[in-house]
Amino acid sequence: MALLEILNFPDPRLRRPARPVEGVDDALHRTVEDMFETMYEARGIGLAATQVNILKQIAVIDVSEERNEPRCLINPRIVEREGEESRQEGCLSVPGVFANVLRAEKIRVEALDREGQAMTLDADGLLAICIQHEIDHLEGKLFIDYLSPLKRQRIEKKLLKVQKAERIDSASRPGHAG
Ligand code: NI
Repeated sequence: MALLEILNFPDPRLRRPARPVEGVDDALHRTVEDMFETMYEARGIGLAATQVNILKQIAVIDVSEERNEPRCLINPRIVEREGEESRQEGCLSVPGVFANVLRAEKIRVEALDREGQAMTLDADGLLAICIQHEIDHLEGKLFIDYLSPLKRQRIEKKLLKVQKAERIDSASRPGHAG
């Protein structure tokens, strides 16, 4: 297993839509394992393949407190939506930023599991929000796209400043490799 690099907003690669997975094989299993490892290490509740620069429709999710309910959704599609709910969201690709987003309260999702078996999942609460957030990622969309352009600009400025400071910091560290 390996940790994957998570792309940060405003990296344009986060905007590229993922393609459907056509077959589940060993290479795909490895990708899914790496995504879970990367998500758990980053203490996230979900990770989409586009966030680690893999343009395949794969999302890994675990919204449990105990971090013991891993779910893998391949080629996920929302087929039913009900109600509305606004919750505060964050994103591993937009570190340090949290904002409320209005989404469907309940959803029905069709997807393949990690063995390539078709499944239907009815979700509500945090799981429903997380699935919608991850499916957005697979379409090149971020949760901050729901905010006003002004708010998004402020976030972009702030994150670019942080990223610049981190680059200077890592360049000046002696013996730094990678
Ligand atoms: Ni995210």
